[in-house]
Amino acid sequence: MLKKILIGLLVVFVIIQFIRPEKNTATAASANDISTRYTVPDDVNTILQKACNDCHTNNTTYPWYSNIQPVGWWLQNHVNEGKAELNFSEFAAYKNKKAAHKMEEVVEMVEAGEMPLRSYTIAHTDAKLTSEEKATLVAWAKALHQQIKSMPAE
Ligand code: HEC
Repeated sequence: MLKKILIGLLVVFVIIQFIRPEKNTATAASANDISTRYTVPDDVNTILQKACNDCHTNNTTYPWYSNIQPVGWWLQNHVNEGKAELNFSEFAAYKNKKAAHKMEEVVEMVEAGEMPLRSYTIAHTDAKLTSEEKATLVAWAKALHQQIKSMPAE
């Protein structure tokens, strides 16, 4: 009986390996990348790159275990949800009101330690932000928020 259950589970595990989520890997550079409209200094860009961009741009660098289901489904879900909320590859196309609000959210999420997601920093240990990196990111987001807020509403 137990043997049958185990074989059944193994068969299910093998079958789900063929159900692969579509990957978030854009081939072309985005015309609406945040850097095309707003200033992203190098130190900020480095932080975004290592801690945020996998879930908040059109390009995710996938770890090897994303090829193992259901882990891959779970990861893809985070990418899709994260991107739907905030996409730095499309940020330049956001209306001013939305862009300003998103920068406010960045400040809140980073200050509260909610971003990057905890499940992400377990495997990506370098994405765990130091207090200095948090301060750099927050200062940039605050300044950008002010800058966009002072622009005419679209
Ligand atoms: C592993 C994927 C992942 C990483 C890495 C990640 N995020 Fe997120 N982010 C999400 C998901 C999923 C959501 C939506 C659900 C939620 O709010 O928890 C989200 C939501 C947000 C929101 C909320 C937007 C809104 O309008 O409510 C902000 C702001 C944000 N992330 C900023 C960041 C920043 C800044 C970083 C890097 C320091 C980061 N995230 C790293 C997955 C991620």
